[in-house]
Amino acid sequence: MHYLFDNATAEAARQVWLLAAILDGHTRDVLRPLGPKPGWTCLDLGAGAGSVARFLAGRGARVDAVDTDPRHLAEHELITVRTADVTTTDLGTGRYDLIHARLLFMHLPNRDEVLARAAAALKPGGRLVITDWDCTRPQDMLLTAPAPVIDAFLAMQTAMIEAGEARGMEAGWARRLPDAVHGTGLRVTAVVHNRHWTGGEPGMQLHGCNSRQLETPLLAAGVTGRQLSVLRAAMEDPSVTGYSYPAHTAVGVRD
Ligand SMILES: C[S@@+](CC[C@H](N)C(=O)[O-])C[C@H]1O[C@@H](n2cnc3c(N)ncnc32)[C@H](O)[C@@H]1O
Repeated sequence: MHYLFDNATAEAARQVWLLAAILDGHTRDVLRPLGPKPGWTCLDLGAGAGSVARFLAGRGARVDAVDTDPRHLAEHELITVRTADVTTTDLGTGRYDLIHARLLFMHLPNRDEVLARAAAALKPGGRLVITDWDCTRPQDMLLTAPAPVIDAFLAMQTAMIEAGEARGMEAGWARRLPDAVHGTGLRVTAVVHNRHWTGGEPGMQLHGCNSRQLETPLLAAGVTGRQLSVLRAAMEDPSVTGYSYPAHTAVGVRD
């Protein structure tokens, strides 16, 4: 399996909750004007905790929520949970009013091929909304932090990104997202979102959470136990501040 994380680990429920806490405000701001409503059929790819699927269902849309491991998805009468791998599963043709995927495509080894299939699965007038993080510049993220924290943060980020890339992740995919969506024949608009966090808030806590999920590969890559302890304490320390990874969101419309 290509995916760097594992929804079955003890930290995973917290991780998908943190992702929702960090990004749902932005995602809802993008989705609301698109007008999800009763009668729409939507698809949420790599649905995680299902917070976006629930937002769409809350607007009266029916949602197919797809994930290889949907254990963190709560049931909802308008949400159909499908356990499937998007790298191989049939998405259909001309079926959906809206397709959403957040923090999924960056992990897919055959992302361009899946993107083409997602575009083909839209109805005429349908919208494809994809958000991914640009993970290429971790050195730009921390704003207020002592040198040992910066060293530990960069060591952890570098090892995590290398472990992801060894599995087919593309750390800079988000930067070519608008061109890739345009290449499928959709009309595209794109934005970049970020916000500032202090230690103890979800945007900082995510890094501690990820370091726990990936502890074994991080240590194997040479990150020290001391660096992991320094990082985890700093991500809970309100005197440490920084940005998330920049979140690139592209909206493609099928004319
Ligand atoms: C980083 S999480 C993002 C979850 C959610 N979209 C969010 O932004 O809060 C990625 C999710 O995609 C799922 N996933 C990874 N690879 C997948 C694949 N090939 N097919 C379906 N789901 C996949 C994972 O199980 C995980 O739940």
